[in-house]
Amino acid sequence: MRLKNKVAIITGGASGIGRETVKRFLEEDAIVVFTDINEEMGRMTLRRFQEKYDTVAFLVQDVQKEEDWIRVVEEVLDKYGKIDILFNNAGVYKKKAINEFTVEDFDFMMAINVKGVFLGMKHVINVMKRQRNGSIINTSSIAGLKSAPGHSFYGATKGAVNIMSKGAALDVISNNIRINTIHPGTIATEMVDNFVASQKTISIESFHNSTPMKRMGTPVEVANAVVFLASDESSFITGSELVIDGGTTATTQRT
Ligand SMILES: NC(=O)c1ccc[n+]([C@@H]2O[C@H](COP(=O)([O-])OP(=O)(O)OC[C@H]3O[C@@H](n4cnc5c(N)ncnc54)[C@H](O)[C@@H]3O)[C@@H](O)[C@H]2O)c1
Repeated sequence: MRLKNKVAIITGGASGIGRETVKRFLEEDAIVVFTDINEEMGRMTLRRFQEKYDTVAFLVQDVQKEEDWIRVVEEVLDKYGKIDILFNNAGVYKKKAINEFTVEDFDFMMAINVKGVFLGMKHVINVMKRQRNGSIINTSSIAGLKSAPGHSFYGATKGAVNIMSKGAALDVISNNIRINTIHPGTIATEMVDNFVASQKTISIESFHNSTPMKRMGTPVEVANAVVFLASDESSFITGSELVIDGGTTATTQRT
């Protein structure tokens, strides 16, 4: 019951890390409104959770659209009266060499991975300031801390999330609002499955082997870290980066 009576918004909750975090938040007694651009997957996920919980709702949202954020925040406030937690999780991944990326790729990734996080913080912080309470968790990646071939763009979007979050954390520090980033390594989700399916030479095994723990992470291992940052247990933690990567960023050894 670590999130009892807390109202949370989770973006990209229809799949992967987001969906597992909806589940963990519900298990910890939170009221959860999750959003996603994929309406069909969102409704399917909602039906699954509603078999066990009546404190869960789903809204269709494109995180890059300001009007969608305004509507989501209004609907959550109308229904529950407050927003204690925002998990900015929705994101997209593309891997290409810098010269192969197009301007359209750049606009697409920046709009979802960076503008989406900015808009979420902007509109939810206005509510949290009135409440004088809140915890925001923004999803970066180990690709926002270290790089690799093909990661220039994705890493740029995630690096932007890191530093934007630190500045934002300082902007609202006197309002009792905390903002932190999480940095997952390779986590076994649909995002990784889709990427492997689109490649000829990369296998799931190579992801397991390239991690010092010799396995990918699981969505629940990330969701547990988000529960901690969302809860009052992390009350002195703000502007920080929580790495969840099975040792990947700790090593200089090539595996
Ligand atoms: N899986 C990994 O290895 C990994 C590693 C590091 C960071 N991350 C980050 O974690 C987050 C979640 O990734 P995941 O692996 O669970 O991916 P996923 O593809 O399984 O889930 C992402 C969800 O976001 C939704 N989404 C995409 N664009 C959206 C938009 N414009 N508006 C609203 N929703 C949108 C998708 O429909 C999907 O349900 C992402 O930000 C990703 O960059 C993932």
